[in-house]
Amino acid sequence: MGICWSDRSKSLSPPKGLTRFKSKRGDGEHSHISSSKVSSASIPVTPRSEDEILQCSNLKNFSFNELRTATRNFRPDSVVGEGGFGSVFKGWIDEHSLTPTKAGTGLVIAVKRLNRDGVQGHKEWLAEINYLGQLSHPNLVKLIGYCFEDDHRLLVYEFMQKGSAENHLFRRSSHFRPLSWNVRMKIALDAARGLAFLHNSDAKVIYRDFKTSNILLDANYDAKLSDFGLARDGPIGDQSHVSTKIMGTHGYAAPEYLATGHLTAKSDVYSFGVVLLELLSGRRALDKNRPTGEHNLVDWAKPYLINKHKIRRIMDNRLEGHYGLGQAQRAANLAFLCLATDPKYRPTMNEVVTSLEQLQKPSEVLRSEREGHNGQSNGRTKKT
Ligand SMILES: Nc1ncnc2c1ncn2[C@@H]1O[C@H](COP(=O)(O)OP(=O)(O)OP(=O)(O)O)[C@@H](O)[C@H]1O
Ligand SMILES: [Mg+2]
Repeated sequence: MGICWSDRSKSLSPPKGLTRFKSKRGDGEHSHISSSKVSSASIPVTPRSEDEILQCSNLKNFSFNELRTATRNFRPDSVVGEGGFGSVFKGWIDEHSLTPTKAGTGLVIAVKRLNRDGVQGHKEWLAEINYLGQLSHPNLVKLIGYCFEDDHRLLVYEFMQKGSAENHLFRRSSHFRPLSWNVRMKIALDAARGLAFLHNSDAKVIYRDFKTSNILLDANYDAKLSDFGLARDGPIGDQSHVSTKIMGTHGYAAPEYLATGHLTAKSDVYSFGVVLLELLSGRRALDKNRPTGEHNLVDWAKPYLINKHKIRRIMDNRLEGHYGLGQAQRAANLAFLCLATDPKYRPTMNEVVTSLEQLQKPSEVLRSEREGHNGQSNGRTKKT
């Protein structure tokens, strides 16, 4: 989750070039933890104390012992992943009482355990509880509870059986079969819906850490966003942006955010464009193993995105050509718009959702919609 450093990266097989960063500037960070009781689409905008956040009624406060039992003493073979925050373990609890059960029975959970290294981790652990404790949507991962005991900080989530989109796109092993075109577009749409939901919430939440490792997939490849450690309430009143320390993951952050620290919902739209490009190309946002000129995915791919004849050059070979060229062109065009250097030319996430919905409609449906529409107006195809 959102632990950010300038000089540390993940402890387990970090993808080359993909490091988290934090600006050295200490100014301008308005911690804006918001208030009030749980509701699906609203985080009211009054700051809340740590106690208020933790008392959030629908999360279980687990004891450390319970989580130790649920994960069989944090057995190394229960580790399902590792990120900047710490290790993630698989565990089991009873569906109703939420107490630990025998491995393989009851509800499967993912337990994220914070490495014991300081203040920043605690802040992000709390941000996760603040946001995921209040927001609920089919495309946000469900937080079941947390543990806050002595210096232990853990988070307990629903278990996402297929792991992260990052693993499926970039890991080469028999365990991860290449994602089909339809699944890729479904992941893009699900994730876009998650972001649109955040942007439309009362607090206009900005996610700030959108990337393929934070998109988790359930058994049906339904995608959900996880990791709200860097999320922030959006600007209020007539403010155009939120001023922040510059934090995020190299390769995904919007250029104007990196230059100024000014955060807006359009920063998420840019990161969405990068992820869409990763889904199309099967290449990482940053990859130092590629030839010179191809390290940065956006810089390399942008010129091809709006050229009908060159689009195949950026498409993932692992798709083996199994995609409609028209759909690929529309998806590439959408990525291009999201990656506009000037944020005002980027679409909103609502617009992105609409485009992806259209893109995924079977051509017969689109045709009949067009015909239906024309039928209502004058029964003829309109020429412009
Ligand atoms: N709820 C979950 N269910 C199943 N697997 C999970 C869950 N949460 C995390 N994981 C696995 O653990 C891995 C590590 O997750 P984590 O969020 O800690 O780090 P990350 O997103 O890879 O990196 P970063 O620290 O930069 O966010 C994920 O990539 C995923 O494979
Ligand atoms: Mg993560």
